[in-house]
Amino acid sequence: MPGLTVRPGPVSGMGATIETTNLDNLSDNDFQELREALYRHNVICIKQQKGFSSRAQADLTRRFDPKATSYGHGKTIDAKRSILHPDLKTVPAHPEVQIIGNGHIAEYEGLHDFKLKHPHHRTFHKSAIPDELDLDYTRFYRWHIDAALFGSLNPPLVTSLFAEKVPAGRTQTALYDDDSDQSLQVPLGTTAFVSSYTMFDLLSPAQKAFALGTKVEYAPHPYVWISTAKSRQNGLGMVSEGLETPVSDLPAYEESDVQILPMVWQNPVTGQLALQIHPSPVRKLYCADGRVVDDLEEVRRIVYELQRPGIAPEHVYAHDWEEGDLVLFNNHGVLHSVVGAFREDEVRLFRQCNLAASKPPMGPEALA
Ligand SMILES: [Fe+2]
Repeated sequence: MPGLTVRPGPVSGMGATIETTNLDNLSDNDFQELREALYRHNVICIKQQKGFSSRAQADLTRRFDPKATSYGHGKTIDAKRSILHPDLKTVPAHPEVQIIGNGHIAEYEGLHDFKLKHPHHRTFHKSAIPDELDLDYTRFYRWHIDAALFGSLNPPLVTSLFAEKVPAGRTQTALYDDDSDQSLQVPLGTTAFVSSYTMFDLLSPAQKAFALGTKVEYAPHPYVWISTAKSRQNGLGMVSEGLETPVSDLPAYEESDVQILPMVWQNPVTGQLALQIHPSPVRKLYCADGRVVDDLEEVRRIVYELQRPGIAPEHVYAHDWEEGDLVLFNNHGVLHSVVGAFREDEVRLFRQCNLAASKPPMGPEALA
C-alpha cells in the first residue's frame, strides 16, 4: 500500500498538503503517518474531500485522542453571554461538530433555514476599519487556541475544519493597525495560523527562561469575563480599560474550575517547545521565583511582548480555502485567527470539530 504524500508549504514548519485517496478507511500505518505529518507541519490540508461526513470528521478527530469524549468547549458555549455563543451551531447528530460560516443556509445536517455570521472585528476590537473600506481591508479577528480554559475541559489536541462551501475568491489586506505599519495580503476568509514553536524560538534567552518557569492562570468563565471588554486591533489579546465582567457577576463556579497551565507546551513527536498562551483571557502569571503577577495590565503587557514577534507577516500561514479542503491543526502548537469580512450574499459553510483532551497539555517539565 502506498503511504501518504506530504508536500510542505512555503512557511517554515507550518502547513503541508497531504495526498491520500481513502480518508474514511485509513489504515493504522497511514494514520500514524498522518499524525506524524500533523506534529511536524502543525497545519495539514487534505484536498478534495467533498462528501466527507460529520461522522467521519468526528471519528478522524477522535483518532488523535481516543479517550476524548466531549466537544472542546463542552456546554460552555451555551452561555448566552459567552463571546463564542453566536459563532457556533451544533450538528444535532454529532454534538462535537459545529457549523460555522456566513450567510443563509436552506438546509444542512438536519437543520433548516438558518443564518451563519462570520465573526467581524467590529464586534470585538477596540475600533473598526471604516465601513467604506471594509471589503478591501480587514484584521486578524482573534489569535487564539481552541480551548474552554475552564473546569475539567483540557485544551483539545487537534481541531479539524472542513470546507463545504467557499465563496469565490478575492483578496483583502489584513492590517495590523498597531504601532507597526505591517499588513498582509490574504485570500478572502482565510484562516490564519502562526507557529507557537517559532514564537518560542524568537524569544531571547532570558525570555525563554522566564517562559519555561511561568504558569498562566485564565479567568473563570473566560469567554464571559472578556465579553464586555475590547481587543487590541491586531487581535493579539485585550486592551486594559477595566471593562471585564466583574467576577461577582459571572455564573457560579468553584475555585477548582480555574485553569492554571504552563506557558510552554511540548510537541509529543518532535519535542519542540511552543509558547502557547491564549492571550485574551489570561488573568495572572505565576513565576518560577514565586512572584505572582496579578496586575492585569502588567500581565497583558508581559504576554504581548512575548507573543507579538511571532505574528509578524513573515510567520503567518494564511490558508487559501477551496471546497472539499479538510484542514487539521495542532492546537497545542499553533495560534489561529478568523480573518476577513464577507458580503451578506457570500455564503460560506464550514464544519469544525475538536474534543476536550483526555490529558492536560504536556509542559516543559515533561522533557526527558
Ligand atoms: Fe478557533
